[in-house]
Amino acid sequence: MSGALDVYIEWASQLEKALRSTVVGAIKLDAGSLRGVAFLGMGGSGIVGDILSKHVEGMLGLPVATVKSFSLPRYVGRGWLAVAISYSGNTLETLTAFQEAVKRGVAVAAVASGGDLISMSRKLGLPYVKVDEGYLPRTALPALLAGTSRLLEELLSISLGIEECVSALRDRGALDVAEKLARFLLGGIPVFVVPDRIYPLGLRAKNEFNENAKVVSKVEVLPELGHNDIVGWEGSPREWIKFVVLKDRYDQLLDFITSYIGELSYPVMTVDVGRLSYLQTVLYGSWVVGMASVILAKLRGVDPRETASIGRYKEAAKRFLESQGT
Ligand code: PA5
Repeated sequence: MSGALDVYIEWASQLEKALRSTVVGAIKLDAGSLRGVAFLGMGGSGIVGDILSKHVEGMLGLPVATVKSFSLPRYVGRGWLAVAISYSGNTLETLTAFQEAVKRGVAVAAVASGGDLISMSRKLGLPYVKVDEGYLPRTALPALLAGTSRLLEELLSISLGIEECVSALRDRGALDVAEKLARFLLGGIPVFVVPDRIYPLGLRAKNEFNENAKVVSKVEVLPELGHNDIVGWEGSPREWIKFVVLKDRYDQLLDFITSYIGELSYPVMTVDVGRLSYLQTVLYGSWVVGMASVILAKLRGVDPRETASIGRYKEAAKRFLESQGT
């Protein structure tokens, strides 16, 4: 496996390649009679559901659920489409929810690089996309996003426009922005502030700093933060917390919040992630924060590829499921 930073730097090529993914066993569903779409997945795979849910909901005008758990909400049933996404194909929460969806008569499809998710899909004759192997799940975001889009485009005869993101991932200034962000965050706890229209980017940023840089991180969302987090800012230690405002366009409230953070004497950096569309903005922003989190890992002397604690959690989850008799 090449260095984590190199993998991020090459995201445009990863995306271009994955846009040519084959959908195995594609069927045509009538988008007009669909009752909803559920995305099943955890962590670096689950974020694909968060990113696409806003887009798909806007495009199809249907309820969209992102399921990050062992069980499906009760309202997901016949007439729904469930897309299970797991890079390894072996994540227990995703597999359990996938099996539950099959049992309930939901139309089910999968995206993975291999593992049980691909073998179960083959066995059950369900549509799937197999993305390239050899990445860490979180660094395979372009492949997972493109693979899932290809799947939805085939099944629902729609166009999601992921291809327009390639140009955003060729921005030569992005690495400099990432370097500056990493240096700014060194020695602090990152708190990302985002407007709710790009909440998935804030969540992604938090996750990237957790997993790659091994630091506690938070995401706070406007306008909700104005009703709770903002009060917590009054009394928290100034020397630890570093605010990063992820700004997609001029926004009076975001402007107020940025100056208010400064007024309270916290260090704050604004990163302009705004691009032509929602998908470009979220993918470009994910690229910058991903690179920054790996650079911060290097500055802190930790290995961005290691996630020992996730391994420990996954063993505990296995024991938990066995104890439940599943
Ligand atoms: O990025 C990571 O390594 C994790 O967040 C994983 O994505 C998460 O543990 C789920 O695993 P998978 O993506 O293989 O389903």
